[in-house]
Amino acid sequence: FRVDMDASAADKGTYPFYMLKEVDEQPAVMRKLVQEYLDEDGRPTIEAGLLNEMKKADRLYIIGAGTSYHAGLVGARMFERLTKIPTQVFISSEFAYEQPIMSEKPFFIFLTQSGETADSREVLVNIKKQGWPSLTITNVPKSTLSREASYTLLLHAGPEIAVASTKAYTAQVALQAILAKALGMTCDQQAATEFDLKQQLGIVAVGMQALVDGKEKLESIASRYLSEPRNAFYIGRGIDWSVALESALKLKEISYVQAEGFASGELKHGTIALIEEHTPVIGIITQDRTAGLTRSNLQEVVSRGASVLTIAAKHLAQPDDTIVLPDVDPLLTPLLSVVPAQLLAYYTSLGKGLDVDKPRNLAKSVTVQ
Ligand code: G6P
Repeated sequence: FRVDMDASAADKGTYPFYMLKEVDEQPAVMRKLVQEYLDEDGRPTIEAGLLNEMKKADRLYIIGAGTSYHAGLVGARMFERLTKIPTQVFISSEFAYEQPIMSEKPFFIFLTQSGETADSREVLVNIKKQGWPSLTITNVPKSTLSREASYTLLLHAGPEIAVASTKAYTAQVALQAILAKALGMTCDQQAATEFDLKQQLGIVAVGMQALVDGKEKLESIASRYLSEPRNAFYIGRGIDWSVALESALKLKEISYVQAEGFASGELKHGTIALIEEHTPVIGIITQDRTAGLTRSNLQEVVSRGASVLTIAAKHLAQPDDTIVLPDVDPLLTPLLSVVPAQLLAYYTSLGKGLDVDKPRNLAKSVTVQ
């Protein structure tokens, strides 16, 4: 498999749907990003002009829609941890019509797979008028948002055809990690210098491969737990919550199960009223500080009859966990925890006989506001 923008890369091959092919390509995309953006010694090769411009910022503003917004939620945690620059994430269609009170020196990061999303472009047009610098992170060279921003970084994920975004999400998360490391090093942050991202992304690629190789297990879990219910929940805390939001969106988009991603601690403040016998609740557990808390939130829904599934990091795993993820740096766990969620959505949709790649009412690129 080659991650290229040529016709063969857009060929479905023996896959029944593009989505499955694109899920499978994720380990190769991780390796491609390492090759494109990290040198032999693991130093980021991102242009100094961009990093110096970003270094001047007193706040980073990440703008995106849909899955790209969810990738931004993960990225913000990376930028804050590795650069110490405060970072905020906005849904583009919200920012466009109600600009918040801005910091003095903002820098904008646009996340957009297609580079054409009208809601995100509206923000770019507005902030350019105000004279603020910007970067577009996109999968499509020469796309509108790429041409119009001050800087561009490409995702190098190869064409993504399925409407439900998978490899573009993981590429956005990985590239933000690389950029956060590069910027953190420019800002003399020790945490950034010490972050062995090259090694960690290698571990991620191997871990993703193991997860996609074990896809049969997810097919049977999807048919057992997700084919019947009308609604489902993904829960987690912190970075796991960000992945819960993306996981729920995947399930909604292609299987039409009404799914919600929820902060596990917030469940008890209202939403737990929706839990009934056999409501699927999937807990994401990858962080030391919050694992015990999310497990007790899962206990609360078990006692109300929910069918609980867990996606847990190996070092936090318990014998009855559903999916165990290989261990990786705590900032990079979304790259692994999202993969079983992508596959659960895929197999739920497939099991229902739906058109996985072209769900009703959705378009790959939305050029109206
Ligand atoms: C559409 C797609 C979503 C995507 C969103 C943002 O709604 O159906 O899958 O996440 O647009 O797209 P972008 O190309 O800006 O990442």
